[in-house]
Amino acid sequence: MLVTAVRPVSNVAAPQSGPQAANPAVDRCDGAGDQPYAPREGKPLLALGIAWYVERKPYFIQISDSHLFEDPAARLWDVAPDPHLDAVVDALAAKAPDPEFVIVTGDCSADGSPESYRRLREKVARLSAPAYYLPGNHDDAPYMARYLADRTLARFEKFTQVFDACGWRVVMLDSSVVGEDGGSIGNEQREWLRARLARDPKMPTIVAMHHNPLPVDSRWLDKMTISDAPALLAVLDTAPQVRLVLFGHVHQEFEAKRNATIYASVPSTFFQFKPRSADFGRDESCTAGARIVRLGDDNVAGTIVRVAMEGRRAS
Ligand SMILES: [Fe+2]
Repeated sequence: MLVTAVRPVSNVAAPQSGPQAANPAVDRCDGAGDQPYAPREGKPLLALGIAWYVERKPYFIQISDSHLFEDPAARLWDVAPDPHLDAVVDALAAKAPDPEFVIVTGDCSADGSPESYRRLREKVARLSAPAYYLPGNHDDAPYMARYLADRTLARFEKFTQVFDACGWRVVMLDSSVVGEDGGSIGNEQREWLRARLARDPKMPTIVAMHHNPLPVDSRWLDKMTISDAPALLAVLDTAPQVRLVLFGHVHQEFEAKRNATIYASVPSTFFQFKPRSADFGRDESCTAGARIVRLGDDNVAGTIVRVAMEGRRAS
């Protein structure tokens, strides 16, 4: 396994006033170097990030779209998900060995099989931190709730979760819809979110979900997103304590700023999609990865870790 790129990608300061605007920017995997948390030169807003690394602020890990099958030797598009996830976990265990928690933002399984979730939990447990999982369009949300959170969902109930850590609140939304590739937050979950955010407006908050709430400039993916995203964004726009919105689904690194909130996706631990693509396509130039997010008192800094599979058998 070779760590091919480890670089900060975001640095979110406290909320600022200003016009509401999405500013999408795809950050391709063209970085280099093998020093953890080493910033690339020339990127703005990194000074505070460097200070955080020196101070060793607490951090958490985001993993997404592992797409494990029931059969650990299964392959899709000639890629085996298990060894790719193992390589990402190996890199994280070496470079970020003491996370406060791990969040897994959906498409945990490719087939919804109990065995795929059992293996995922076993692999993520190697990171030695509490792990929180939310469902994607390939997942079985009721089974995930029962097996990964010891919780029984009512019929049509969303698998919504919330927890506090390091002075931050993390809200895990369920954007999955049974039988559909696209997602929806739904009225009930959205109104719960609105009330929850209104109750603690000073609490710095991270919101996570599977589907992208903003377009990522890929036509086929942007047709498979959250159907009621405008209503969700209207809630998030009125909650400046939400510093960061994390999601998976798009199998690529993406970052945009809307008001003072960063919206960011993470590479899949499996294979990557071509950014800014009209149709489905694999991005052979990018490898599996994960995100490390350092937590300041009121702001965050993100780092993407990518791995290559050189010298490692795919199955
Ligand atoms: Fe996926």
